[in-house]
Amino acid sequence: TGYITIDSGYKNTGATKSAITFLDGEEGILRYRGYPIEQLAEQSSFLEVAYLLIYGTLPTQAELDEFSNQITKHTLVHEDVRKIFDGFPSAAHPMAILSSLICALTAFYPESVSPDLSKENIDLNVIRLMAKLPTIAAWTYKNNMGHPLNYPRNDLDYAANFLYMMFSFPTEKYEINPVVVRAINKLLILHADHEQNCSTSTVRLVGSANASLYGSVSAGINALWGPLHGGANQEVVEMLEAIQRDGGDTSKFIAKAKDKNDPFRLMGFGHRVYKNFDPRAKIIKKAADEVLTALGISDPLLKIAQELEQAALTDPYFVERKLYPNVDFYSGIIYKAIGIPTEMFTVMFALGRLPGWIAQWKEMRENKEPIGRPRQVYTGELDRDYTPIEQR
Ligand code: CMC
Repeated sequence: TGYITIDSGYKNTGATKSAITFLDGEEGILRYRGYPIEQLAEQSSFLEVAYLLIYGTLPTQAELDEFSNQITKHTLVHEDVRKIFDGFPSAAHPMAILSSLICALTAFYPESVSPDLSKENIDLNVIRLMAKLPTIAAWTYKNNMGHPLNYPRNDLDYAANFLYMMFSFPTEKYEINPVVVRAINKLLILHADHEQNCSTSTVRLVGSANASLYGSVSAGINALWGPLHGGANQEVVEMLEAIQRDGGDTSKFIAKAKDKNDPFRLMGFGHRVYKNFDPRAKIIKKAADEVLTALGISDPLLKIAQELEQAALTDPYFVERKLYPNVDFYSGIIYKAIGIPTEMFTVMFALGRLPGWIAQWKEMRENKEPIGRPRQVYTGELDRDYTPIEQR
């Protein structure tokens, strides 16, 4: 079988070639299809970035219109998907519902599991998933709150429609705030892809068995939910709130994070690849300031976060280990400011990451990559004889 080397956590093992996202962790560079994240976050829209990631080029106006019209046309989900909500406990975590229902879509749209890799079939599945994820995501929140579920509004763009489904009530007129729409667009763009991270590798691995796009993405959603991955954004705000309840002394929590006998980690800090800074964190930190100012909100958690960052950046423990704030450190403060509850933060991450998962799944299938099947080095007993139970 040849010589097997082990690389736990794949710290130095490449799993694939990819032409989607370029990342230089030493220099803090992130580019989608060659375009710097800074330019896209400032000038583009989420759907344009989704098109770029999935199809490889920036769309012309006509291509973008067609892409977004197609998505708008498919925003409704099968009525029976709505009924499944009645079976979940009302306090269910939205990520549990989201991953289940994305997987359930394979039952409602059986052509999504077909091995047909024609452009038409792939495009239809891509459009349906992009269109239906925001509807299901907003419904997980409404269900949690015991509010009536809102149907999508096709006169609104992607981000505005999501906000409408999240926050409007049939009883009152809902005003969409352009500051909030811009903030959502920016956050979704910043989360849209990040090469072979844990959830994306999951999507590719599941998809490598020729599993459906929806099934693969549902697996990715579960990976993302983990607190070491996308679940960190919820944990960051919960940590900041705990510091606030404790009287606001950040040094105590820095000491806990450094204590090797204490499992506590500074959430939103550190990254497998970025060893200089996370370029997304820089943009989000600035955006947090801007959004809070524009909305006239002063959140004491922002001050605690800034203090924590300052203290960590000058502490030898964090400096030596090259631990910097990551994308999750300031995003929760923006979500909170625009009224998104903590339990929905990782759902927001999933909404943003969707085009990346789709692009990576599509690339893997189009490149006809072989089934993913890592090897192991066996460390158990070598050879034993079975003993009947009464003799053990
Ligand atoms: N607080 C305290 N110590 C830390 C932290 C932290 N947040 N992160 C890493 N360390 C220490 C770790 O204990 C280890 O120390 P030592 O060398 O003394 O054993 C050293 O730094 C290297 O850490 P590692 O765990 O070997 O690094 P990794 O590449 O396996 O893990 C990470 C990366 C992101 C899982 C980790 O930094 C972490 O747990 N961070 C907190 C959770 C978090 O913010 N996750 C979001 C990641 S970014 C977005 C996303 O993927 O969703």
